[in-house]
Amino acid sequence: MAATFRLRTQLQLMTGFMAGFIFAFALLLYVYDVNRATPWCTSSATMATATATATTTPLDTRILCMVLTCPENVQSLARHVHATWGKRCSRLVFVSSESYEPLGVVQVVDASGGGYEDLWNKTREGFRHVWQEYGQDYDWYLKADDDTYVIMENMQYLLSAYDPTSPVYLGYKMTRYNVSYMSGGASYVLSREALHRFMAQAYDSEVVCPQPKRRSIEDFYMGICLQNVGVHLVDSAQALEEDTKHKFMPLDLESYMYDSNATTPDWLRLMSVSEVETGFNCCSNYSVAFHYASPERMYLYEFLLYHLRVFGRPEPSEHGNRQHFTSSDLMRRFPLEDNLYIKDLQKMPEKPENF
Ligand SMILES: *[C@@H]1O[C@H](CO)[C@@H](O)[C@H](O)[C@H]1NC(C)=O
Ligand SMILES: *[C@@H]1O[C@H](CO)[C@@H](O)[C@H](O)[C@H]1NC(C)=O
Ligand SMILES: *[C@@H]1O[C@H](CO)[C@@H](O)[C@H](O)[C@H]1NC(C)=O
Ligand SMILES: *[C@@H]1O[C@H](CO)[C@@H](O)[C@H](O)[C@H]1NC(C)=O
Repeated sequence: MAATFRLRTQLQLMTGFMAGFIFAFALLLYVYDVNRATPWCTSSATMATATATATTTPLDTRILCMVLTCPENVQSLARHVHATWGKRCSRLVFVSSESYEPLGVVQVVDASGGGYEDLWNKTREGFRHVWQEYGQDYDWYLKADDDTYVIMENMQYLLSAYDPTSPVYLGYKMTRYNVSYMSGGASYVLSREALHRFMAQAYDSEVVCPQPKRRSIEDFYMGICLQNVGVHLVDSAQALEEDTKHKFMPLDLESYMYDSNATTPDWLRLMSVSEVETGFNCCSNYSVAFHYASPERMYLYEFLLYHLRVFGRPEPSEHGNRQHFTSSDLMRRFPLEDNLYIKDLQKMPEKPENF
């Protein structure tokens, strides 16, 4: 950590840059609000052509799924997550501002603090709960929203290339004004070591991690906190060799399938680190997650992926090309962000109200 802060004093020289950063941040907030202003307490899934077959070696990565929900969404969304992809998690935990035992919904924030504006606090408290209850029991900790659809077998396949004792977090990488993070609605996944660092070094620190305030931006903040404690940001498009397509998708599949820019919003093109492709090029054949999954879409994805057969078409055989990245591969392929501007949030000369 000493090395992490070694350049802190240089921040004073950067007042000019910071003014620009703050202006940019305000702009980002605006763009983001347009993006996430949904009536839901969480903003934010799914379908792919990949078929997990039973003939491959079973993947035994233990993944805990933490799904953010709120009392209003329990029947309308959480119930359908529970009935579809959620059952394939090693453990499914819904976090909310009110518990509901039949679905395993746990209250992690006060009843008054569960709305969309409190998403950061709920995520932060959700991770605290999950770490306290299950800290050493799982390899990976997924954060999804109640309108995300996840293909857990592809998640297992992707994560089997990584070591849960390395500090990594994977998702759809976005970058604005030199700050990188993973899209929240597309879901993101932390290794055990990443969550450990988040809890031990970031959760309580006003220096490296924005503390809870209303109207905070959950995914962006998580990106700041994690990169400040030495966690590698692994963009899912680069996460497997020979597969350069995105795997965590910030939109629903329909929006990508129509081969036109009309269905992909400007904010996505503005914030994405790579070109937003449409049509069959949009997404990996081993896609992991899709956002904006209405209940109808969840069952559609579920049916197409796990039930529908095409008569006479042979089952695809998996190539079984298991990859493994060592920590030096990780360092080479996904260097630490080392972003000076966010290393000490308290020393920002004019920090935004939300920090
Ligand atoms: C965050 O949640 C905790 C637990 O409910 C609560 O004590 C705290 O006041 C909340 N903070 C904010 C800023 O809402
Ligand atoms: C990020 O910061 C570097 C160093 O100041 C600068 O050269 C670069 O233009 C910045 N990039 C963006 C997107 O602002
Ligand atoms: C979408 O926009 C990008 C950049 O403006 C362009 O390169 C691409 O050809 C467009 N795609 C379609 C299908 O119009
Ligand atoms: C994805 O699947 C389609 C249909 O099987 C295939 O034609 C295509 O080559 C696959 N893409 C990649 C990158 O393997």
